[in-house]
Amino acid sequence: FPLESLNTFGIAATARAYLRVTKKEQLLGIYADGAWVSLKKLILGGGSNLLLTGDFDGLVLHMALEGKEIIGGDDQHHYVRAAAGENWHAFVQWTLAQGLGGLENLALIPGTVGAAPIQNIGAYGLEIKDVFHSVSVYDPHSGETRVMSGAECRFGYRDSVFKREGGHLIILDVTFALPKQWQPNLRYAELAQALAERGIAAPTPQQVADIVIAIRRRKLPDPAEIGNAGSFFKNPVVPAAQCAALLERFPKLVHHAQPDGSEKLAAGWLIDQCGWKGKQLGKAGVYPKQALVLVNTGGASGADVVALAQAIQADVQARYGVLLEPEPVFV
Ligand code: EPU
Repeated sequence: FPLESLNTFGIAATARAYLRVTKKEQLLGIYADGAWVSLKKLILGGGSNLLLTGDFDGLVLHMALEGKEIIGGDDQHHYVRAAAGENWHAFVQWTLAQGLGGLENLALIPGTVGAAPIQNIGAYGLEIKDVFHSVSVYDPHSGETRVMSGAECRFGYRDSVFKREGGHLIILDVTFALPKQWQPNLRYAELAQALAERGIAAPTPQQVADIVIAIRRRKLPDPAEIGNAGSFFKNPVVPAAQCAALLERFPKLVHHAQPDGSEKLAAGWLIDQCGWKGKQLGKAGVYPKQALVLVNTGGASGADVVALAQAIQADVQARYGVLLEPEPVFV
């Protein structure tokens, strides 16, 4: 089964078998059926945080569960639930149309609602963990469905339990707690600045979303036009002492202090400084407007992207002594 149109990198790999999952019962059926038990499975959402490094010798379960609703509220929050297969950005827009703020900083992130908790998607000063209530998962090991709290998900920067020991759990739906007393989140300087430039002192959630969308469109390639999976590397987090030593040699190093005293470096800056921006290796390239994004320049294989990523890692390691860790999941 061709996967080219099911991964935003546009890599032309195939799967042995494919099933579009529109009902939870289909999952229960698959995992209960002896014929499918031994086959490897890949749970696929929007395919926007994935690098296919070859053909997948197994069954792709394409999560297409639909539905979204406001399920209630308390003094502080509106509770909103969406099924795993809902498109993330369409869901964000829907919450805004309902008059609910809280997700606007995460506008235009590609992918599905179900994939969002896996890497704790984040942008412009907000991570999903900040507005998260709970998630329903199907556990194929026990055959049971259960609800997990934010604490159980153990969210970190672009990380959660679903990227580690909970990798077998299948997310069915996600519930968000959106604030009734909404305040704009303008921690990200570029966002605050863009609003100030437009003379907007007290923005609405929709106005914040519109600015985020404009910034993203300016910097990030649209996967419908150029294959990519967003940031290809995580921003590396290093001890304060290492950052201080680097600053002595590279005074312009971009860094942000973390609550625990460590420092997060801008991987895009490191890659840019190594001269990779706009460069190409085989059929993979570095996006000219944002060095953190690797792109498929046309007909790239997973191996092309891996070769480029390794060349970048080697250069950054040699110059800065920092190992860049890929953000997408390699299959
Ligand atoms: N920079 C350069 N050259 C570049 C790219 C960046 O010098 O080619 C510098 C910028 O000037 C800036 C710093 O690096 O000083 C950071 O750049 P930017 O603000 O564009 O953000 P980022 O660190 O590159 C992160 C996320 C993005 C998210 C933005 C906004 C990661 C890995 N990436 O990018 O997330 O949209 O911040 O919050 O954390 C994604 O995960 O797919 C993604 C796009």
